[in-house]
Amino acid sequence: MPLIQAPRGTYDVLPEDVARRGALTARATEIFSAAGYHRIETPVFEATELFARGVGAATDIVQKEMYSFDDGGGRSLTLRPEGTAPICRAYVEHGMHKLPQPVKLWYLAPFFRAEAPQRGRYRQFWQVGAEAIGSAAPETDAELIVLLAELLAAMGVAGTRLRLASLGTPETRSEYREQLTAYLHAHESELAPEVRARIELNPMRAFDSGDPGTQRVMAVAPKLLDQLAPEDAEHFAAVRKLLDVTGIPYEVDPALVRGLDYYTRTLFEFTCDALGGQSGVGGGGRYDRLIEQIGGHPTPGIGFAAGVERILLAGSAQPIATPNVDLLVVVSDHERPGALSAGFELAREARRAGLSAQLELMRRSLKSAMKHADRLGADYVAIVSGVGETSLRSMATGEQRELAIVNVIPTLLRASRLT
Ligand code: HAM
Repeated sequence: MPLIQAPRGTYDVLPEDVARRGALTARATEIFSAAGYHRIETPVFEATELFARGVGAATDIVQKEMYSFDDGGGRSLTLRPEGTAPICRAYVEHGMHKLPQPVKLWYLAPFFRAEAPQRGRYRQFWQVGAEAIGSAAPETDAELIVLLAELLAAMGVAGTRLRLASLGTPETRSEYREQLTAYLHAHESELAPEVRARIELNPMRAFDSGDPGTQRVMAVAPKLLDQLAPEDAEHFAAVRKLLDVTGIPYEVDPALVRGLDYYTRTLFEFTCDALGGQSGVGGGGRYDRLIEQIGGHPTPGIGFAAGVERILLAGSAQPIATPNVDLLVVVSDHERPGALSAGFELAREARRAGLSAQLELMRRSLKSAMKHADRLGADYVAIVSGVGETSLRSMATGEQRELAIVNVIPTLLRASRLT
């Protein structure tokens, strides 16, 4: 039979990978809890309409990257490509506007995008992110940027660059968009074909192009940052002032574009050269119109998400030490009536007493069971030969003594108190 493999762009999290991911969960929990953010989990699939309206019909994500399917009853569902629209949906659906504002939430979950897989880019990937919904104050923007910077630092992601911009309001943006569209049309012959084809659909993406001709045109293109309304310019200045106080270095990048349409005002992204082509390690921004767009009352919000795989690829955080094995229970004679049940119960009782205890499950010979205990790093081995008979061997000293099975756990507990 041909081997069935995991789908392209997916990967298995093997037991040896779990420790580093666990370290990320632990750090994220510490950092977000300390700042008063609470964890939220939303469904893996949502109504397709949520992303079409929330993320934007013209985005690459909605146009080409969503895994959408019919639920069998004529409704279109989509495996979530991102977390902000679902969290805003949950905010509205659960009447979270009645809670003290802003509502501060964080998440660590899998997301799905049908992208061309490569290092750091997967079709199922994980994001760790945070959203603060209900505050329009610039200190909220700065707080989220600081939290992401702290998380990246805690995970040992070095050599990051923070780029910052402001998109102003959708009104400023649509005036600017007309101006940019006209500019792009005037320079059509110098643009890459794929940029030319998308002038009307998404002119901002021209800033993102790697094509040298397009880059020359865009270097002197009109910039949105120069056309912000006074209150948006003030908001942006206030965010930058707070960041200046923290000492976190950043560059204002008027050409910063992100692939989601819900952004207003502040926009930011951390990149890391160690990641190569897929250098975006995490980013986010303000989305003051999103909640209205999905049917709620006008409510400001801001957040970010970072790619878990990219953090782990670029980071150097050490895994949390694997817990040691206090006891390996080896049944030496499985034919002896009652021996197996006695050993089985001993392992279970030891775990209930708070020890880490394993039963030897391969029915190894005594000699190879000892080798296995060594490999596991077990402190003690209990060799159960009958109902009440046990020998307890210390793997550190090699000392072995006979004792009644009921005394094994108290002996180990005493020993663990002494060390
Ligand atoms: P995003 O920039 O699309 O933003 O994704 C955030 C991060 O997820 C990226 O910086 C990257 O590290 C990771 N990522 C994205 N796509 C992939 C992929 N195919 N494979 C591996 N990693 C990937 C958002 O999703 C917004 N919801 C962020 C946000 C939150 N904005 C406001 N609040």
